Formats: sequence, C-alpha cells, structure tokens
Amino acid sequence: MTQREQRKDDHIRLALNHPESPSSFDQIHLVHRSIPSIKQTDISLHTHISSLSFEHPIYINAMTGGSKWAGEINHKLAIVSRETNIPMAVGSMHAALKNPALIPTYQVIREVNPNGIVFANIGADVPLDFAQRAIDMIQADALQIHLNAPQEVVMPEGGRDFADWLSNIEAVVRTSEVPVIIKEVGFGMSSETLAQLKAIGVKAADISGRGGTNFVYIENERRPGKDQSYLNDWGQTTPVSLMESMPFQHEMDILSSGGIRTPLDAIKSFVLGAKAAGLSRTVLNELELKGVEPTIKMIERFKAHLTDIALILGAKDMTALREVPYVLSPELESWQRQRKQR
Ligand code: FNR
Repeated sequence: MTQREQRKDDHIRLALNHPESPSSFDQIHLVHRSIPSIKQTDISLHTHISSLSFEHPIYINAMTGGSKWAGEINHKLAIVSRETNIPMAVGSMHAALKNPALIPTYQVIREVNPNGIVFANIGADVPLDFAQRAIDMIQADALQIHLNAPQEVVMPEGGRDFADWLSNIEAVVRTSEVPVIIKEVGFGMSSETLAQLKAIGVKAADISGRGGTNFVYIENERRPGKDQSYLNDWGQTTPVSLMESMPFQHEMDILSSGGIRTPLDAIKSFVLGAKAAGLSRTVLNELELKGVEPTIKMIERFKAHLTDIALILGAKDMTALREVPYVLSPELESWQRQRKQR
C-alpha cells in the first residue's frame, strides 16, 4: 500500500473514531410561531446551486476514493445517493490522477448511479488539466475544489506552498464547463476569503466550518507526538461562516457543511442563507456502523424531518426559510458585532 492509500484509510478510520465536538448550531434559536398557516403538502424544499437543480436541499459531501476500502465505501455511498435522490461528492481525486489503477475506486459511483448528480473533487494546488480529467473521470455535474491549508500544515507529509492557489482556482473557474464549488474541509470561511473568491468569478462556495470532522485533530492523531494539537480549535464554526457569507449571498450560492448532525442544524443553515447542507461524517458513521439500508432510512427520515420543521415554522420553501426570525447567543452576537465594527 502506498503512503497515499494508507492516508485515505487513516482518514476513514480516524473519522469513524472521531470525538463529538460541541455544536454552535445550538447557539442559534429559531423563533417559534404558534399559527404556521400552511399545510405539509404546500412545502417544497427544492433548491438550486448554479445551474444544478436539487430535489432535496441536502447532499453527501466529499470523503473518499483512492484505496480498496475507499472504493467499497464509494460504492455504498453511491447506492445511498441513488436511492435517496440526493447528490454526492467523491473525495480528492489526486490519487487516481496520479495512479490510473485507482480510477475504479471513484468511477464506481457513476456505474452505480448513472443519472445522479455527482461532484468531482480536487485540491487548489493542481494544474488546470487535472480539473478537466477529474470531471471527465466520473462525468461530474460540478467540480469541488477543496481548501485545506491548516490540514496540510499539520499533515506529516503535507504541502507548504499555497502561493498559486488563487490563480489556479481562477484558471479553472474561467474554463470549466460545469459549475465550480470552492469548499473548505471543516475550517470555515471568512468574508475576506469570500471576497477573494468573488473577485475571481467564483459563483458557489461550501463554507464547511468547524464543529464536525476536524482535520487538524485527525492529522495530529497520525503525527508522531501529536505535537500540534494546540491548533485543534482552528477556524470558524459553520454558523459563524454562514454569518460571514451573508454579504455575498445575493451573488454567490452558499452551501453549508461541517457538523450538520440533525435536520434542525440544516434548517438553521437555510435560515442563515445556505442553499443546501452537506453531510459527511454523519453519513459515514451510519454506513460503516450500520450498513446501506439503515443509511438510506436515516436520510429519508432526515428529509421528512426537514419538511416537519419547515411546517412548524410556516415556511413553504427555501426563500421563506430565509425570512424566519432567529436570536443568536451572546457569543455569536459578539462575533457579529465585532466583525461589523471593523
Ligand atoms: C473528508 N472531507 C474531504 N473534503 C474534501 O474536499 N476532499 C476530501 O478528500 C475529503 N476527505 C474526507 C475524508 C473523510 C473520511 C471525511 C469524514 C471528510 C471533508 C468533508 O467534505 C467536510 O468538509 C468535513 O468533513 C466537514 O463535514 P462533517 O464531516 O462535519 O459533516
């Protein structure tokens, strides 16, 4: 097994043994109204990301590919995605771009789900032709480009040169025929990052914030001595990142991920302006601990509960959810106030 294949398996194993993080979704309180004035059949949470149309506002976010175990997981995730009619992303495709023997561990998702919405995934360090090859490999409907600087720094074999990331992203955004989603991997985004992305023409961003899977923690666990564990709290939480994204939401589609545990977390993301919510570890845990059928049931339950919550909020669609009043805890309110003062 190569170092890269070993790393893929380490990530899955450590994600499955990941401790729960405190969730700052609990710091957002939706205001209850006693007379919702709609009925369940009025509700549709249909949504759009760039030119793509999602029947349901949730998706399975990027995880894996590039080892035997990863290929088996992608196979099972693709069944779940097909049966529940929600989009799915594969994990970083660098492994297959460098070693064609690993291509089937990604392509399996297209074989299983020929008509589903799938996202390719690459890092911001790769040359332009990799982007097109990644899209072609799985006939992707969109391309995710991940940003993971803190992970690289803590990863024993990680990169240290981020100088070309923005220009690489710009080149892909200019030439790609499919929508490009710039995504974090659990460290969140700030308004400064989103302003940089907007300036180069990015139209969709997954702010993937802190509060769920933590890749500084995971890389520290893989590192001899775990000596950078003081960085384990790095980054902005998902609710903070959504607040940071508000000035950009009229010109960029914002996706929310990072620690989405329940349908209520997803609904709170939509109230804060996200157009869809992504789940990684919540799905991986169910899949590996219980199996494909229980994971399909979990997602079906998740979708039904999204509708239940929209119903009690009196919100018949994603636009109405954005109008739902909410109150922030002192910590979130303080963040908002301090950032507005600058
Ligand atoms: C990830 N994530 C990820 N993201 C990415 O863009 N490319 C990748 O290759 C991976 N690999 C990966 C492996 C595993 C095992 C997990 C659990 C996650 C990050 C993922 O897409 C997401 O941004 C974070 O995991 C936060 O979401 P959750 O896990 O808190 O729902």
